[in-house]
Amino acid sequence: MNRRKFLHLSALTAPLLAAKKSIAGNFEAPVKPIVISTWDSGMAVNAAAWEVLSKKGRALDAVEAGAMKMENTPDCCVGLDGYPDRDGIVTLDSCIMDEYSNCGAVAGLERIKHPVSVARKIMETTPHVLLVGAGAQQFAVQNGFPLESGELSESAKKAYADWLKKSEYKPVINIENLPVRQAGKKGNGPFAPMFFEDGSFNHDTMGLVAMDSSNNLSGAVTTSGMAYKIHGRVGDSPIIGAGLFVDNEVGAATSSGLGEEVIRICGTHLVVEFMRQGLSPEMACKKAVERIVKRNPKKAKELQVGFLALNKKGQYGAYAIQKGFVFSVKSERENQIHQSKFLL
Ligand code: GLY
Repeated sequence: MNRRKFLHLSALTAPLLAAKKSIAGNFEAPVKPIVISTWDSGMAVNAAAWEVLSKKGRALDAVEAGAMKMENTPDCCVGLDGYPDRDGIVTLDSCIMDEYSNCGAVAGLERIKHPVSVARKIMETTPHVLLVGAGAQQFAVQNGFPLESGELSESAKKAYADWLKKSEYKPVINIENLPVRQAGKKGNGPFAPMFFEDGSFNHDTMGLVAMDSSNNLSGAVTTSGMAYKIHGRVGDSPIIGAGLFVDNEVGAATSSGLGEEVIRICGTHLVVEFMRQGLSPEMACKKAVERIVKRNPKKAKELQVGFLALNKKGQYGAYAIQKGFVFSVKSERENQIHQSKFLL
């Protein structure tokens, strides 16, 4: 074979060899699109996001659709049917972040059904990132979001009346995984391991991150936060770098659990930075969990935080302080719930 012919043949076969390597290498070809969500309720969230992703839609639209799905579900663990603060008022926190590091957030928002969409509106139409309380509500109404009644759902009313008898606040591990509105009964989710005799139910969060067919990442979080919190308390969920962080060069992460602990370590930013250093999503989440536990090992036994992360290859992973954190994954390869590894 002369040199010219050899070069010609090499040019033809090189792409074929590269393609073969990427299939054999399994993760060299990114798994995309893909969406991952906290908790087993993430299955419904992922289905809503997949409607967008499977049509080659943008990850940003997918994560908004996923979060809205939870906010729309009656008697669900996030949104206006969530449990109130100690003054009997439901306040919502949410954020969203796209592939350009654009982000928007709301905190302490009352009487608006879709905080995630208000967060997106802030991101897309204002020079700001975070609006809170009355100002956030004013912005929402001015932008056409209907003002809802603000009345508690029947089950939230009952739970609040019960709570008022003792007026105690105690974080409950894996509270998000309790079957909603079945407090006091044995868990019936696939991994519902917790059974609270007193039926306490005080904390709800939904976070999801996705990568679309164009390899772009986005994420969203929505929550009613801790039930019976001090009026005005804001958790990690609307704080960019705590409850959610997206870096389109590296990956994205979200968190669930006791927000104060996540804020203290800038949790999801830390997870993404660990991935930037070359750690797998699971190892990055583990290192962030270790950071929380190291700070106060005794206190960590009493609380739950779980991190969930996705990298640009479509690899995902999670890690939690305690047993019981689960997450849901949807891609062309799978549609299922996974149990997170845990430290303690
Ligand atoms: N992780 C949600 C919160 O602490 O409010």
